[in-house]
Amino acid sequence: VTGTELRSYPFPARDGVDPDPHYALLRGAPTPVVLSTGREAWLVTRMADVRVVHTDPRFSRAAAVADATLPTAGLSPPAGSLLALDPPDHGRVRRLVAGAFSARRIDALKPGVRAAAVELLDPLPADGATDLVPAYTRALSVRVVGDLLGVPAADHEMFAGWSDALLSTASGAPDRVGRLRGAVAGYLRDLLGRKAAEPADDLLSHLAAQRVDDPRELVMLAMAVLVAGHETTSNLLASALLLVLGDPDLASSLRADPARLPAAVEELLRYVSLGSVGGFPRVATADVELGGTLVRAGDVVVAALNAANRDPAEFADPDRLDPDRAPNGHVAFGAGPHFCLGAALARAELAEGIGVLLATRPRAALDPAAGADWHQRSLVRGLARLPVVLGPRTSTGPRTRTGEDDT
Ligand code: HEM
Repeated sequence: VTGTELRSYPFPARDGVDPDPHYALLRGAPTPVVLSTGREAWLVTRMADVRVVHTDPRFSRAAAVADATLPTAGLSPPAGSLLALDPPDHGRVRRLVAGAFSARRIDALKPGVRAAAVELLDPLPADGATDLVPAYTRALSVRVVGDLLGVPAADHEMFAGWSDALLSTASGAPDRVGRLRGAVAGYLRDLLGRKAAEPADDLLSHLAAQRVDDPRELVMLAMAVLVAGHETTSNLLASALLLVLGDPDLASSLRADPARLPAAVEELLRYVSLGSVGGFPRVATADVELGGTLVRAGDVVVAALNAANRDPAEFADPDRLDPDRAPNGHVAFGAGPHFCLGAALARAELAEGIGVLLATRPRAALDPAAGADWHQRSLVRGLARLPVVLGPRTSTGPRTRTGEDDT
């Protein structure tokens, strides 16, 4: 990469759901930036180019993870984990777990997600402020991912803490993350052993039954699901509720017509900028012409999913939240071989998490007395606190259908 005035990347941490304004200023051909280790990289912001980086096999995740000059531990999944593998290894490992995420399996999980949302909301008070982050968004997400894996309920809170810590970008995090990975791997190895002896209907039992040459692959997969599945959904749900409850017209229209929720969820996924970095880096394994720029073999490329999701060449009026936007070709779940394995589950959690709250607490509103607080120092951006006054429960019981076919 050449260039005399290189911008530092990632951009400074910021609050809110919008992507950093620098992305819009840099919109156009790939732009040279300099990473925290001094390594130069191409920042890619256009939807068309982002899709190429995620789908063209000449852009390698494995090479990025192996590159010692890139920001590594804590900012990148460990070597050998799903997000660090290239085809054909990647496909082989992903197939070990993909069955557990099929549309049929996820449909079967939906009633449980809905019941968990109802159960978590029910005891929360009608009056006074409730912080929805610990009470609802985080609690729902950890319960769903914990139940999916088959982690005992008593360990869910510990699991959520691990997930937070593994995504930390605070100073000193890489050392702590390295040690923690060892502890989490030990816990999962033990649990996989117990599931092999006494299988249940859960993901760890499914993994324990797979024949692999290296059992560490199964531990890595379970860890990938924990890390990729909890913080993402928990933070996105909180930001989505901030937007929905912050717009009473939107809240009442979705409450009146829950069939619109799936489209609204897609738009919230597009609109909320979840990553504190645009995406996991890739390294070009050959010279590639990308959006009119020659990217050389060995160059690092960061394809910013959050910038592509606001690309005016792809979306009319991209900075407007349009809950009925169709089509909606966002890349919040990535694209290509690493496309989010948990996308269907995340969609179900978001639709149920919003739908059940609107249905059971029709007067829910942001707390006028206290604003939301944002947390920093994580790979995933989001709310530390979301104070809401929930209001009375519906007397008729929850109207739980969210517009999806849940038969
Ligand atoms: C709103 C919630 C979520 C968002 C926005 C999200 C986003 C993403 C993105 C962008 C990627 C691709 C990263 C890349 O290619 O660099 C990804 C991969 C992945 N996600 Fe999600 N995710 C969410 C929820 C979940 C859930 C609930 C699970 C599982 C329970 C999950 C499991 C995974 C796994 C295992 C991968 C790696 C796939 C692979 O490398 O083949 N995600 N996710």
